[in-house]
Amino acid sequence: MHFTPLILAAGLATLATAHPHHDLPSSEIARRSALSKRCASVAGEMNKKRYNKRMAEKRATIGARSNSTVQITTEAPFYNVIQNDTCILTPEVTTGPYIYPQSQTLRQDMREGQAGVPLTLDIGLLDMATCEPLSNALVDMWHCNATGSYSSFEALDPNTPFVELLQELNITDYEIGQTDLHTGDTTFLRGMWPSDQNGMLEMKTVFPGFYVERAIHIHTRVYTNWTLRANGTVVSRDVVSTGQLFFGEELSEQIMALDPYATHTEINRTTNAVDTLFPIEGKNGFNPVVSVVAEDGVNVENGMVGYITLGVDTTAIETTILDGLD
Ligand SMILES: *[C@@H]1O[C@H](CO)[C@@H](O)[C@H](O)[C@H]1NC(C)=O
Ligand SMILES: *[C@@H]1O[C@H](CO)[C@@H](O)[C@H](O)[C@H]1NC(C)=O
Ligand SMILES: *[C@@H]1O[C@H](CO)[C@@H](O)[C@H](O)[C@H]1NC(C)=O
Ligand SMILES: *[C@@H]1O[C@H](CO)[C@@H](O)[C@H](O)[C@H]1NC(C)=O
Ligand SMILES: *[C@@H]1O[C@H](CO)[C@@H](O)[C@H](O)[C@H]1NC(C)=O
Ligand SMILES: *[C@@H]1O[C@H](CO)[C@@H](O)[C@H](O)[C@H]1NC(C)=O
Ligand SMILES: *[C@@H]1O[C@H](CO)[C@@H](O)[C@H](O)[C@H]1NC(C)=O
Repeated sequence: MHFTPLILAAGLATLATAHPHHDLPSSEIARRSALSKRCASVAGEMNKKRYNKRMAEKRATIGARSNSTVQITTEAPFYNVIQNDTCILTPEVTTGPYIYPQSQTLRQDMREGQAGVPLTLDIGLLDMATCEPLSNALVDMWHCNATGSYSSFEALDPNTPFVELLQELNITDYEIGQTDLHTGDTTFLRGMWPSDQNGMLEMKTVFPGFYVERAIHIHTRVYTNWTLRANGTVVSRDVVSTGQLFFGEELSEQIMALDPYATHTEINRTTNAVDTLFPIEGKNGFNPVVSVVAEDGVNVENGMVGYITLGVDTTAIETTILDGLD
């Protein structure tokens, strides 16, 4: 299924000021909602398994390290964060302007010393066609740092509205996925890792900051047919499910109050509620919001684990040639 890339420079001006609006037709929303519901119990099981495994590891670690009197229980207090709904990835969700495959490398820790609250993403992949875990699919992630900058695009000001940025660069024919805006080749907060035989993987990063006009998010792409070059970047012709992961408002507010996030005062943060790409329809059964628990079981500000199940719509895989990469 192909949707024409719809975000051009002119369109962006409208998007930025328009009332929150999602471009998907209601039939497409209904289709995703049905996909998600159909696989709900499998998604719930998958989340529960990962959660329990992590809790068991934590008990073992704490037991080994000290004779702590802290009690860790499996059911409480975080059990209720386990969700059965999934974040449905499809080809037509935008990758945004800051995709740069040349800088995406195979690794499970993409922090490179970037400051911020540690975040371990615990990701499950489900093939929505079969409701089975999707193994050996490569999950590609990238997001901005605590003050809004993307690696490989460091010279672009995270506080300048995108349309103005294009004007400054004298770009009049911007096309998402086509126009190359990169300004360097740094790689922080970009990484890829394949799902294991249970459809699961982990990525260490930091909680993202924000940049102008967008809610806090992490970009993801899933490649189902991939190989790697010697330097760890991906070669792929069959991609692709694309998506963006979001965080709950209260959590974002809490984390943004901490340094270094709190030093980002040049602009006000865009909330999920007014973001142009946050799917309001998420409430109808598919859910792009990462469930978060404190890594130490106490305070998310010390570090957190984010769980999310990505539902890959393998019936709608896009075949994409990654231009100029071979
Ligand atoms: C979620 O999935 C679990 C595991 O299959 C199931 O026991 C539970 O009833 C489901 N909950 C909802 C709200 O669908
Ligand atoms: C825990 O307590 C046991 C028994 O009192 C002791 O042998 C052990 O060294 C202690 N471990 C640590 C890490 O303090
Ligand atoms: C990896 O190799 C490809 C192909 O030679 C090149 O285009 C890309 O810039 C390299 N990336 C890194 C991070 O070295
Ligand atoms: C984020 O990256 C930009 C560009 O490299 C840098 O100036 C800024 O200090 C970084 N933010 C943090 C919190 O390190
Ligand atoms: C854009 O065009 C203006 C006017 O011609 C020029 O002064 C400026 O240097 C150009 N900027 C870039 C980034 O090329
Ligand atoms: C995977 O991609 C290669 C080219 O990179 C192609 O020859 C092959 O047919 C693809 N396999 C599948 C299952 O689509
Ligand atoms: C942020 O929002 C507040 C309240 O609307 C406003 O007073 C302030 O000027 C805004 N700050 C920036 C940097 O836009």
